[in-house]
Amino acid sequence: MQTDTVPALRVSDLRKTYDNGVEALKGVSLDVAPGDFYALLGPNGAGKSSLIGIVSSLVNKSSGTVEIFGTSIDKDRDGAMRLIGLVPQELNFNMFEKPLDICVNYAGFYGIPRAQALLRAEEELKNAQLWDKADKMSRTLSGGMKRRLMIARAMMTRPRLLILDEPTAGVDIEIRRGMWQTLKAINAAGTTIILTTHYLEEAENLCRNLAIIDHGRIVTEGPMRSLLAKLDVEGFIFDIDGELPAQLPVIEGTALVASDGHTLDMDMPRAMDLNRVFAAFAAAGIRVRSMRTKSNRLEELFVRLTGKPEVTDTDALTPHAQDAQERPA
Ligand SMILES: Nc1ncnc2c1ncn2[C@@H]1O[C@H](COP(=O)(O)OP(=O)(O)O)[C@@H](O)[C@H]1O
Ligand SMILES: [Mg+2]
Repeated sequence: MQTDTVPALRVSDLRKTYDNGVEALKGVSLDVAPGDFYALLGPNGAGKSSLIGIVSSLVNKSSGTVEIFGTSIDKDRDGAMRLIGLVPQELNFNMFEKPLDICVNYAGFYGIPRAQALLRAEEELKNAQLWDKADKMSRTLSGGMKRRLMIARAMMTRPRLLILDEPTAGVDIEIRRGMWQTLKAINAAGTTIILTTHYLEEAENLCRNLAIIDHGRIVTEGPMRSLLAKLDVEGFIFDIDGELPAQLPVIEGTALVASDGHTLDMDMPRAMDLNRVFAAFAAAGIRVRSMRTKSNRLEELFVRLTGKPEVTDTDALTPHAQDAQERPA
């Protein structure tokens, strides 16, 4: 089969019901083009890890099909798995081994001769900026280094498709940016990358295409750029001096509500002139003390598409809030 024209990943009507009855995937279909950098974006519990688990043969599917570069995981599981490198959500290497040994032994497990594995380990550890740590006990590496070691190890088999499950969850923003550089370089060198994330900022920074997944379903899919272009609505919060009038002004094309006695919440078309809003406020005797935009664009998109902000993990969908919490002590 010609592998440059078939998708790197094709998932069709994938379903997964766990033994406890939880329907984690309710008919997911998607194609990832060769060379793409693709994000599966969704809140906790959306089904991202279930999908990744099935694609990498760690989890049994209930129904549906998965093909890696045209190779079906049902017909030729080993052949399909040889094309994949997986970076799972949890660190799962032996903390008492050295990065060099971790990489070389991993390659050995895949039948790569030791001499070749040593050369590759040097290259991959250098790519991950870990070569100077190659002989240190892994336990002593920083959180970011451990994450990059997971990537270096997965790259030892020279996968055509690198899959990462929340590669930067719980790491500091500096470390996250460093990992983005590593991943961008791997993608630029020709490896297709799929990653799951609940950081909108991460998807926006890294990926050309994405699917938003929620409650086991793809809510939307397509190029990042066209998804962002859909965002023609902008939200503002106004802090008001003094009392709000009993009747708020009606401003055509906007949705205006009072969130409390001194705060107004407004959605308006991006193209609309704010002067009109201020004129209407002034006419109604509303004095604006300060204003700010409501939220991150992707967050807005996510909330609008899933339509259920109350059931999404909104903290996780606010990258900046998350970053602040996750700075290590
Ligand atoms: N081994 C399992 N057994 C039962 N339910 C599971 C199992 N793994 C995940 N789930 C459930 O499946 C749903 C999707 O989980 P998961 O795929 O881990 O989502 P995500 O990675 O997007 O957070 C959740 O409701 C989760 O509780
Ligand atoms: Mg997960």
